[in-house]
Amino acid sequence: MRKAIIAGNWKMNNTASEGVALVKAIAPLVTEATCDVVVCVPAIDIPAVSEALKGTNIRLGAENVHFAEKGAYTGEISAAMLKEYGVEYVIIGHSERRQYFGETDETVNKRTLTALTAGLTPIVCVGETLEERETGKTEAVLHRQLEEGLKGVEDITKLVIAYEPVWAIGTGKTATAAQANETIGYIRKTLGELFCEKCAAKVRIQYGGSMNAGNCKELMAQEEIDGGLIGGASLKAPDFSAIVNYDK
Ligand code: 13P
Repeated sequence: MRKAIIAGNWKMNNTASEGVALVKAIAPLVTEATCDVVVCVPAIDIPAVSEALKGTNIRLGAENVHFAEKGAYTGEISAAMLKEYGVEYVIIGHSERRQYFGETDETVNKRTLTALTAGLTPIVCVGETLEERETGKTEAVLHRQLEEGLKGVEDITKLVIAYEPVWAIGTGKTATAAQANETIGYIRKTLGELFCEKCAAKVRIQYGGSMNAGNCKELMAQEEIDGGLIGGASLKAPDFSAIVNYDK
């Protein structure tokens, strides 16, 4: 009932020309995809990659968006700027932004509301650190991130959640499929309590963290997991397309 969504997060990799070469390599390999396929790319790559994606079934995403409509925010990018190039998705609150760039639940919330108003689909990232998991705080952390980050959202079915345990990002350590399924189940239950159960049942929740061609089938087979947010493995066409084609 929920359509799967596999999204690449290139992070700070690929110049525009490298990005164009990558999507040109990916496109012919994913034409039979049954899931939504998205690449989230560095802002400066967007114009060229947008052009290269024309006529393909790959949608375009950004890695961040500012919460103001416009104004004196040197170095920032607005939702309208993204929309003009056909951007449809935007990653919000990635743990790297929380860790290195002062992102908080409050700024996640502001960005999410702005993106929704602009008609962008936010991919809101949540996840616990290793210390938080080891001290039994996973559920409390996720609850706080969801409650604060999604405050005031009218229709949660218009967004995607990415559960990314921080300890699994870029480390080669994947949460086991059962662990990921259980935690995503908790996220869905919490969305049901904070918003409505019927809506929560419709929200697509991705897993992210060292997901690759080898482990994607098992992860995607879990009932609660509706997709993946892929870092490292999204930078190589054979790896990313293998994940997109997890059901083949
Ligand atoms: P890796 O797939 O490289 O672990 O990164 C996951 C991630 O952070 C996607 O947003």
